[in-house]
Amino acid sequence: MKRQPLRLAISEATRILEEAGVASPRVDAEILAAHVLGVERDRLPLTPLVDTPVIDALREAVTRRAKRIPLQHITGTAAMGPISVDVGPGVFVPRPETELMLQWGLELLERRDAPVVVDLCTGSGALALAVANARPDARVFAVDNDPAALAWARRNADIRAEAGDTPITLYSGDVGDPKLLADLDGLVDLVLCNPPYVPEGTRVPPEVADHDPPHAVFATERGLGVIKAVVAIAARLLVLDGGVAVEHDDSHGDDGPALLAARRVLSRVVDHTDLAGRARFATARRG
Ligand SMILES: C[S@@+](CC[C@H](N)C(=O)[O-])C[C@H]1O[C@@H](n2cnc3c(N)ncnc32)[C@H](O)[C@@H]1O
Repeated sequence: MKRQPLRLAISEATRILEEAGVASPRVDAEILAAHVLGVERDRLPLTPLVDTPVIDALREAVTRRAKRIPLQHITGTAAMGPISVDVGPGVFVPRPETELMLQWGLELLERRDAPVVVDLCTGSGALALAVANARPDARVFAVDNDPAALAWARRNADIRAEAGDTPITLYSGDVGDPKLLADLDGLVDLVLCNPPYVPEGTRVPPEVADHDPPHAVFATERGLGVIKAVVAIAARLLVLDGGVAVEHDDSHGDDGPALLAARRVLSRVVDHTDLAGRARFATARRG
């Protein structure tokens, strides 16, 4: 069987992805090569030559990516902090920028024993499962109103529990329900939420428009509709000195914090930027 340099195959893949308008063609080409080879991306230099079946598999993966199918739908996984979750059609792909909110939440949990954590709008379960992985003593609850998303969350929760993480509790529920998780009123240390927040009518890349479920991305009221409901629930659920973090659109740098500040029981409102300096999530504490 004829062997070929992997370096050339990756260069060719990069060119194809660049022509297709993919935002990070070289990175994607390398991740797809690593996926096809079943190795970590930083191990690619250890495989200078590859067989024809590997080249064919890479070509097929690159063809799919060039059609703007999300990278994570092709590899089948997305990272969230220390874990990865399975993703595919029917569920929102977790984004790297959400890890900043996870980090804020985990820091808030330091020095708290057996904390209670709620992840609203959990999607694949990524945030809830990352917390459960980092804090085995935590009781973690995760909510979504979409059966397809919950099926992915169930699958991921089973995988993580099988790997030894503390099991989380999944709820089918709507954040618009004023009685959602009422048993936990005043008991929750941390509420995390990455809700749908893109203002309706906003143009988004094909990966989002054609593959993320619309109700996971877009929200009414200039993108603030679901966030308003989440803020109301957080104000009710949090224990004294508990914290809430809600991700928002980069156009919500004023609106996100203002919604939290409007709640009498919430204080110490802060808005946080992502690594690109864009307004990304707002936090507040109870009391
Ligand atoms: C942007 S995705 C976030 C998923 C996950 N938290 C993450 O960061 O990958 C938003 C999720 O909110 C869910 N959702 C939308 N509206 C909701 C509502 N009213 N109540 C509960 N979940 C909702 C969607 O089904 C979707 O899974």
